[in-house]
Amino acid sequence: MQSVEQFAPAPSLGLSTTPGMSSTSDAILGSTFRALDAALQARDICTHAHCQRVIYYSLTLGQMMGLSEHELVTLERGVFLHDIGKIHMPDYVLLKPGLLSDTERSVMQQHSTIGFEMLRHNPLLVDAADIVLTHHERYNGSGYPMGLSGDDIPLGARICAVTDTFDAITSVRPYRNPMSFDDACAYIKSERGRHYDPRIVDMFTALPPSQWQEVQQVASAGTALNNLFQAA
Ligand SMILES: [Fe+2]
Repeated sequence: MQSVEQFAPAPSLGLSTTPGMSSTSDAILGSTFRALDAALQARDICTHAHCQRVIYYSLTLGQMMGLSEHELVTLERGVFLHDIGKIHMPDYVLLKPGLLSDTERSVMQQHSTIGFEMLRHNPLLVDAADIVLTHHERYNGSGYPMGLSGDDIPLGARICAVTDTFDAITSVRPYRNPMSFDDACAYIKSERGRHYDPRIVDMFTALPPSQWQEVQQVASAGTALNNLFQAA
């Protein structure tokens, strides 16, 4: 078994830069990320800590799967922006403390399409926009917005589906205690071939829960967001 350090993305990897693009373009993109982050924070959609952990989990998994540099950069950006469409959600849906009604849920489900529309015209974000659009699709076709299944779902979205859930269920929430890393890994495994791509689940569970916990610690002290904001 390789050590986590071999998988954990290091700043020297140069993620957040766009292969083949000028530093000026990347600097503009960095300021764009900072502005979008401010919008996410203003509406309390994605805490910095959650974003940072999900980026590290995703890049760790992406590296284990042998993704190219371009694919990793796209993954990083798509994961960071996956819920950006929620900034358009009305407060009565976004801030509702309890369970959503069927109508409210259908409103909330529009966030993936809205996020896609926000990003798809930017040539540096068009690939990440595909992740944003499809991050709630499920491997068995029961997800939304299009009901895609299997490999028709972009790989980055299939990775994001696992890592976003994993961080959500292992994090403290006002309404419930965090799941242990052992239980969370078991839950991810239980959805193999249903919600999640079986190959990604197999890769995810190839690392024992204790090592994912180490990745969490690396992420908490990491610089993923600063890399995005500088993007040069
Ligand atoms: Fe989402």
